[in-house]
Amino acid sequence: MKDRITEEKIERLISQMTLREKIGQLNMVPSPSGEDEAVFEMLRRGEIGAFIMSNTAHAYSEDSVSADEALINKMHRIAAEESRLGIPLICGRDVIHGHYTVLPIPIALAASFDFDAVRECYSDVAREAARDGIQWAFTPMLDLARDPRWGRIIEGPGEDPYVGEKLAEAVVKGLQGDDPSSEQSVAACAKHYIGYGAAEGGRDYHKTEITDYTLRNFYLPAFRSAVDSGVLTVMNSFNEIGGQPTGSSRYLLTEVLKQELGFDGFVVSDWFSVQQLVNQGVAEDEAQAAALSLNAGVDMDMSDRCYIDRLEALVTEGRVSEEALDEAVRRVLRVKFRLGLFEHPYVPVYRQDRAAHMSRARALSASCMVLLKNNGVLPLKKNSRLALLGSMANEKATLLGMWCLDGNPNHVISIAEGIKSKIEEGGAVNGCGTDLSDEQLMHLQWSDAAVLCIGESRYVTGEAASLTTLEISDSDILLAKKAKERGIPVVAVMCFGRPRATEELEPYCDAILYAWHGGTAAGGAVADILFGDVNPSAKLPVTLPRKTGQVPIYYNVSSSGRFVNGYYGEREHEQNYLDCDCTPMYPFGFGLSYSRFEISDISLSQDSIPYEKLKDGGKIKVSAKLRNISERDGWEVVQLYIRDRVASMTRPIRELKGAEKVWVEAGDAKTVEFELGFKELGFYKGDKSFDVEKGKFEVYVGNSCYADLKAELRVI
Ligand code: BGC
Repeated sequence: MKDRITEEKIERLISQMTLREKIGQLNMVPSPSGEDEAVFEMLRRGEIGAFIMSNTAHAYSEDSVSADEALINKMHRIAAEESRLGIPLICGRDVIHGHYTVLPIPIALAASFDFDAVRECYSDVAREAARDGIQWAFTPMLDLARDPRWGRIIEGPGEDPYVGEKLAEAVVKGLQGDDPSSEQSVAACAKHYIGYGAAEGGRDYHKTEITDYTLRNFYLPAFRSAVDSGVLTVMNSFNEIGGQPTGSSRYLLTEVLKQELGFDGFVVSDWFSVQQLVNQGVAEDEAQAAALSLNAGVDMDMSDRCYIDRLEALVTEGRVSEEALDEAVRRVLRVKFRLGLFEHPYVPVYRQDRAAHMSRARALSASCMVLLKNNGVLPLKKNSRLALLGSMANEKATLLGMWCLDGNPNHVISIAEGIKSKIEEGGAVNGCGTDLSDEQLMHLQWSDAAVLCIGESRYVTGEAASLTTLEISDSDILLAKKAKERGIPVVAVMCFGRPRATEELEPYCDAILYAWHGGTAAGGAVADILFGDVNPSAKLPVTLPRKTGQVPIYYNVSSSGRFVNGYYGEREHEQNYLDCDCTPMYPFGFGLSYSRFEISDISLSQDSIPYEKLKDGGKIKVSAKLRNISERDGWEVVQLYIRDRVASMTRPIRELKGAEKVWVEAGDAKTVEFELGFKELGFYKGDKSFDVEKGKFEVYVGNSCYADLKAELRVI
């Protein structure tokens, strides 16, 4: 919310600024790695508004420090004390899912369905980052993604808008805190606006085709939630939508984001995305690229110097108006005021409790791991004799995941370490590695179970890391097969960034734990689950296919006239693929626990509601009974789905509208309640308007998108 006093200060400053100083505020440059007189001189002249800390020691080097505090403070001092108007800098960095304490990759965080914990851990992240001089983190990534071939699917919420909304809120509020001007808060950046995850064929940077209907109902909600949560900045994406690069789209950036969603912070371009308009063929040269971007609504230019080198002439020639320039400057200054940078530009000094961060990260990591299969072998006994197999058993760096610049692999708990730390008298761990010689096979014979730790390198996930094959490698399948042939149970721990096609591995596994890239505490968290110290509780935020060829496969697909979907097993005998079942390997929302639950007694507070009442804020209460019918206390994520039965546009067969993570003691029962209102029952139509259409809705409660406990509601 704008406040009058700050707005007046902004206007006063703008009225004192020269054209060059204004453009300087819109210029973000990579921070120098040492003393650099040319940069200091630009700072004195007010020609740099922001740094991206991309050059400082980082990125997987063992004992890296993220920042040179003295150098950062020197740059702040020059900007704040030696430039004409003393406007502070803002220093940003890709702090994506952790700083020193690294959390699981974001798609795994989504699987936790524990958004309070995510928020709390992100305030730990902010505390660690801010202490290193980072004032702005380029996260959350909110790109809805339906194609796991796309390496960046690991950075976002997965395939569902509701999960995207929740993750957006948790990360933004965690990083920015209740008071963004606190020295221990950092600005968040909702990225990549918009549609980046829809890249054709899962090929990074590729074009997309997204209609307004799909944009507003699927891709936009997470960004809307970030804006409603007070996100201070937004980053535009690299992709085009239907022929228009987002960075040159006035419609998307100004009309939708700024006007319709009411975003009043600033938009920063992605790395060189202004200049890339030339490669994309919508700008002849850098000058035209700068004009297109600024006029579309990109306020700050990341790294490619197009604004600082070109905008002066463009304003003089009238290709960019001074009003448009002022509006961009106004937004940048507003964020700097909101962050309190005018009062405290320097690196703050305070104590942190890293041990507490680590223990929260471990708990969160465990609550992100999805138990996909368990025929009773889990939890393991602590006096078991275990054979530890697979390439991930001793891995550390991989577990940090991609986009982790400051995590130190030496601080990571490997799975082997996690498991060994739990073994009690009588138990043993034999490491059998990745290839099974006769001697090693002997070991298996004497084991109670094999724990097979497989996964993918983080370098095949993240940016520019698309794959065509999601199947598990033949060598990993062979390991599982050989272990199984020895007649002992096989527990697969899968450390993948993205959804993988597990169909061929499945028959050889007695249990499967999808552990993702789980961060610094991952190995400890895996052991917590395998030995039953933690009861697994995560749910898939994305569908796991049987085979790569099924992709894209996602749960909120609309109903079709013939038999093209099949996700829900409808029309059993009619398959759209002749060589593969249409159903997923594991559906959205699925995940097991060591407890067993029963969900029953769905009821609605009323089975019809007048449209007008709904529009005035009326709500329907949906409740169901959750019973823990086992002997173990545990968590269950109770999920609410709807289906709009008849509407003017085709609607999804299931849409998630609520999810409650509930703790139920063994033998106990709880009533879980949800609300359905105008927002939940409505949708954006092709003409951009949002409305609820009268008629019949099916309401489902369950523990995956296959929920079949149903009630009917009528909007009259
Ligand atoms: C990525 C962004 C990132 C930026 C700065 C780009 O290549 O797409 O997500 O924040 O680089 O490092």
